[in-house]
Amino acid sequence: MKVGVIGTGYVGLVSGVCLAAKGHEIKCLDVRREVVERLNRGIPHIYEKGLESLLSSVLAAGRFRAEIASVEALKGCEVILIAVGTPSTEGRIDLSQVEAASRLAGSYLRNQTSPCSVIVKSTVVPGTTDAAVRGWLEAESGRKMGDFGLGMNPEFLREGEAVEDFMTPDRIVLGGETPGTWDALEKLYEAWSCEKLRVNSRTAEMIKYANNAILATVISASNELANAAAAIGGIDIYEVMAGVHADKRWSPLLPDGERIRPGILTYLWPGCGFGGSCFPKDVQALLAKARDAGAEAAILSSVLRVNREQPHQILAILKRATGPLRGRRVLVLGLAFKPETDDVRESASRTVLADLAGEGALVMAHDPMAADNARRSWPELGVQYVSEWEPCVAQAAAVVVVTAWREYLKLRTSPLREELRGRVLFDARRLFSKQDFPGAVYLTIGNRPLERQTP
Ligand SMILES: NC(=O)c1ccc[n+]([C@@H]2O[C@H](COP(=O)([O-])OP(=O)(O)OC[C@H]3O[C@@H](n4cnc5c(N)ncnc54)[C@H](O)[C@@H]3O)[C@@H](O)[C@H]2O)c1
Repeated sequence: MKVGVIGTGYVGLVSGVCLAAKGHEIKCLDVRREVVERLNRGIPHIYEKGLESLLSSVLAAGRFRAEIASVEALKGCEVILIAVGTPSTEGRIDLSQVEAASRLAGSYLRNQTSPCSVIVKSTVVPGTTDAAVRGWLEAESGRKMGDFGLGMNPEFLREGEAVEDFMTPDRIVLGGETPGTWDALEKLYEAWSCEKLRVNSRTAEMIKYANNAILATVISASNELANAAAAIGGIDIYEVMAGVHADKRWSPLLPDGERIRPGILTYLWPGCGFGGSCFPKDVQALLAKARDAGAEAAILSSVLRVNREQPHQILAILKRATGPLRGRRVLVLGLAFKPETDDVRESASRTVLADLAGEGALVMAHDPMAADNARRSWPELGVQYVSEWEPCVAQAAAVVVVTAWREYLKLRTSPLREELRGRVLFDARRLFSKQDFPGAVYLTIGNRPLERQTP
């Protein structure tokens, strides 16, 4: 099929390249000229495992091209995917990019005689596709839905695993408003054999939000339990959660005594909160939409409140161990919101850096992929970004691991382990155990030793 993808970020680019790899003819459109030029030279502007080589192969096969967004660039498209950003503005979904993309698709539909379906792939609140997008398309095209197809196909890829997730999804949600749209979506995903759910576009929109909201709720619940355990004292929340994981409803027991360990368990550990471009803004957008519709959404509101506070735990716990930090060096390891990505949007690391800088600490920070994005995104923080972190360990009063990049596991090997003697290691992601660092002050979330009174 000839497919136009409007918006060439994490979702649009990965979708475009993967669909091209499965045999479709893809045009990826963006408003950023430098992005378009780089892509046509085979250089992705984002980091995703396997993306660069796949891009090179589809460019070489002549099945992928990037172009500046225009009606002309959409010529011949049977399907148009809208994959632009849907940021949060003052706690509400900002649909301005979706409106611009819809109006562009509508202008294309004005003179289009062969069948074409417009599919929203961006995460949008329920009711956006069948009301707002439909309205923009009809206004610009001068035609009615039915003359063109309209649908919603939410994307579930995870940054860091985006290519793998797109190529081998657990399900594909096909939201359609007209019968022809389901047919077009079935054809688009013909090469995928996973479960495909046919629903209307509102249900498709809500599946995406419900999915993210439940995962975010599990994370905030784990963090709240960790903070309660630390307040009570004498409890290690990791031992607690390991005990919870052993419930066969979370990790079913096989007849041979082995367990199935579902991916949901990774959300049932405490840490410094969820970040990234999706969970925070999606929970916020759903909360606002639910309230507008008259629902209280009390849990969603608490999930966000717990998450906003969680990264501040690091400074509070650290200061109890180190005393004032003014003028002392602290090394922060990890800036991306999770490993294997260069994305720093809503990363807990920003709050940690800001808290430390606010205390007057001299902050050094490292990330193997995301340091440039952090430097660009947070110029106000006055942090020294370092490209080599290992020599900085010996200069720091405290080392704080915020993102669980595998390379930080080197901390427990010589000579770094010896260099940490007499220093503080804050392991916010529980990469290690206390026994790994004899002589160091080892701190984590959800584990405050009990100060027993001598009888
Ligand atoms: N990033 C993820 O992991 C992820 C996962 C699932 C769903 N989503 C959703 O997918 C959507 C896109 O997310 P993303 O992370 O790819 O966003 P992004 O910000 O990385 O990319 C959006 C792209 O759209 C371009 N753009 C903006 N307006 C445009 C226009 N009028 N015409 C053409 N291009 C335009 C921007 O220049 C940018 O390159 C969002 O709704 C997001 O919530 C994201």
